[in-house]
This record gives sequence, structure tokens and C-alpha cells, in this order.
Amino acid sequence: MSETPPIRAHVTGWGRYVPSHVLTNTDLEKMVDTNDEWIVSRTGIRERRVAAANETTASMAAVASLRAIRAAGISPDEIDLILLATLTPDYWMPSTAALVKEAIGNTRAAAMDVAAACSGFVYGFATAQAWITSGLAKHVLVIGAELLTRFLDYTDRSTCILFGDGAGAAVLSASTEPGGAMGIELTTEPQGAYMIWLPAGGAKSPPSSETIARGEHYIRMEGKETYRFATRTLASTALESVRKSGLEPDDISLFIPHQANIRIIDAVAKGLNLPMDRMFTNVDRYGNTSAASVPIAMAEAVNEGRVKVGDRITIVAFGAGFTSGAVTIQWTADPARGADADTAIRAEDVHVRLPVDWDSVDPIPQALAELMARPGAVNPPLDDVVPGEPEPAPFLPAADRPALTPAAS
Ligand SMILES: CC(C)(COP(=O)(O)OP(=O)(O)OC[C@H]1O[C@@H](n2cnc3c(N)ncnc32)[C@H](O)[C@@H]1OP(=O)(O)O)[C@@H](O)C(=O)NCCC(=O)NCCS
Repeated sequence: MSETPPIRAHVTGWGRYVPSHVLTNTDLEKMVDTNDEWIVSRTGIRERRVAAANETTASMAAVASLRAIRAAGISPDEIDLILLATLTPDYWMPSTAALVKEAIGNTRAAAMDVAAACSGFVYGFATAQAWITSGLAKHVLVIGAELLTRFLDYTDRSTCILFGDGAGAAVLSASTEPGGAMGIELTTEPQGAYMIWLPAGGAKSPPSSETIARGEHYIRMEGKETYRFATRTLASTALESVRKSGLEPDDISLFIPHQANIRIIDAVAKGLNLPMDRMFTNVDRYGNTSAASVPIAMAEAVNEGRVKVGDRITIVAFGAGFTSGAVTIQWTADPARGADADTAIRAEDVHVRLPVDWDSVDPIPQALAELMARPGAVNPPLDDVVPGEPEPAPFLPAADRPALTPAAS
């Protein structure tokens, strides 16, 4: 009797969305005491994106997700599990994953958020891999989405220059074909817990006028310590994942690292003894988009022809926690499948349902408002900002709800 081959998790879809408003280093020079030369030489960042007032983490995530689902060639309702990595959820509850589930038109998936900061997408990817290889799910949607510009102190030049907004997504699908996701390495070093953190808003320090006056609702960071952790950990985490896949760094055609800082990516290349052209970079255009950075980079790498069928790639990230994670993947999907996703799925056609009887405040930070209002900037119509009357969701008794489809063996 022949043995059934093991189920593997293959990346079948990928997509990304970035807001259209560009915030350049020159723009930042008008807000804080900084300059383009300092930012470029210390970080490699030239510009980043800022979400418009009518955009949220969920809305950006939904667009990237529909693009990934289109590339996978499946319908949104075939997704069994949605994992959304973010440190900037729309609300404390419900999960942003639940909002995305509704926005993409999925009725059957389990949905939850993943909190592992900038490593969140890789943590979600590894979790998806486990669900698929264990037979619990056939198609998993993994998303990284962030709206960091609403949590930045635009008087703190050491943090506000680094971050930007955006979303990326991938569909992982079960198959017994060879290839797909291989070695996983995930680590967490809690001694770094307060090196990058957002002090107020949680149970330890609930939001109050005092926490706001003290600016504790903004991201804080010990830049040097974080830099040291990143340069020490990224290469070793990537190496562990590569070796757990039975490979050596030279077998990997492209590393897709978290896009925090070009100097950190350069240190990874040196640590792995590889040239920089084996590292995918787009940090110059988007800055650090935290959990969104790896899936945005992966989608761009594939769409730009940097990944071909049969290639081995490694995604690797680090972040607050301190967390780090890497997964090595043998690519099996036709890269051309993602080519028309940006034009086929338009952001203006994707809607996240708004709450009833609740007026949101203007979410754009005051320091950015003037720049956002200049000609050519995104200017959302008012009816997209003020909550309307939602359609009530149809209720299905538990017995009528579709069951989770186990993966085909
Ligand atoms: C933030 C970071 C770019 C700062 O670079 P650095 O070389 O460590 O710079 P320092 O913090 O030592 O600052 C050097 C000087 O530049 C100044 N400076 C800091 N930010 C500046 C800015 N935006 N523009 C101009 N000068 C700045 C500092 O005040 C300091 O001046 P001083 O020497 O007069 O005191 C770097 O530490 C870094 O990339 N850390 C990791 C951050 C990260 O990746 N975070 C996300 C993790 S997911």
C-alpha cells in the first residue's frame, strides 16, 4: 500500500495595498528638526505612505486580501481561517480580522488577530502553516496591516521619521505537491519588552486625559537597543529557518526581510555572507510598515519578477517583544497571477461596515493635517467618514452554518 504524501502549505496568492498619500523626508523637515540626508543615511527611507481619513487598518487589509485571493484563483468564501497581524487594530474589540472577514464577503472562516508587532505576519504565516499541515484548514488568509501614522508623535524626530501605513496579504493553500513552506524559526526575548512599546491604552494604564497629556498613546522606542537586537537576531533567525529546511543560505535566491532600516538589512546580508542583491528592499518607498512590511515586500518581489517557480525564499522579521521569526518557502505559484490584482481590485470598491450611532473624531494627526490637505492629497468625501445605517447581518442557526472543510488528503 502506497503512503499518502504529507499535506504542505503553498503560497497561492499574494497582494498588497498602500495609501496614495506620500509623505517625503522634505515634508518631515517642516515638522521636526531633521533633514533628508540624515534620514536617508541612517535608515535608507526616502518616503512613506499615510492613510486618508476614511481609511483604516481593516479597509487597507481588505483590499490587500481581495488582491491575494484573486491571485490564488479562489472565491473569498473558500477561506477557512483569517489571521490578521497588526499592532494598530481598528478597535480593541472586535478583532480587525472579523471586520475584514465581512468586508471581503466571507461567511465561513474563523478570524482572529495576531499580536507580535513587526514579526506578526511571519508569526501568522507559521500558524497558518500549522493549521494547513495538520488538516484543520485548506485555505488560510494571512494579513499584515498597519496604520502607524495615527500612533506617532510628530514632535519626536527619533520615531516619526521611521514608520508608514499599508497592508499585505497571502493565501496559503493545502496541497500534497512538493514545495511550499518549510523550516520555521520563531523567538521572543521578553527582556526587550520595553524597548519599543506603546505605554497607555491597555489594562496596565487605561486611557485618560493624564495619559494623553503625557503622550503615552504614542509609540516609544530605544533606537540603539532595538538596532542592536535587530542586527544580532535577524541573520541568526533566518539561518535557523534555512537550516531547518535542510538548506544553506546560498541555496536561497531571495531573502525578504522586515523593512525597518537599510543598514539592518545590510547587516543581515553580511551576517549570512551574501551580497545585498539577495535581499529584497523597498524601505526607501514605504519606511517601516511593521507587520505589513514583509507581505508588501513579498507581493512586490513576486510581481517584479524577483521570485520564480522553484525558487527558495526566506521571509524574516523582528519587532517589539522582542520577537523575531522566519519561514523558508519553495515557491510554486505562477508569479504572473498577481499581475493585474491592483487594477482588478480597486480600493474604492471595498467597504468595511461602520458602527451605528457613533461619530468618529477626525483621525488625522494635527501635524499631518495641513500636508494632507494640500492639492493632490487624498480628500475623502464626508459620507465615507460619517457612519451610516448598516444592513443587518443575516442570522444563520449554528446547524446551518457551513462547517470547516478539512484539507483534502
Ligand atoms: C533610529 C535610528 C535610525 C537612529 O540612528 P542612530 O545612528 O542610532 O542615531 P542616534 O539615536 O544615536 O542619534 C544620533 C544623533 O542624531 C540625532 N537624531 C535622532 N533622530 C534624528 C532625526 N530624525 N534627524 C536628525 N537627527 C536625529 C540624535 O538626537 C543624536 O544627536 P546627538 O548626537 O546630538 O545626541 C537607529 O537607532 C535605528 O534604526 N534603530 C532601530 C529602529 C527600528 O528598526 N525600529 C523598529 C523596529 S521594528
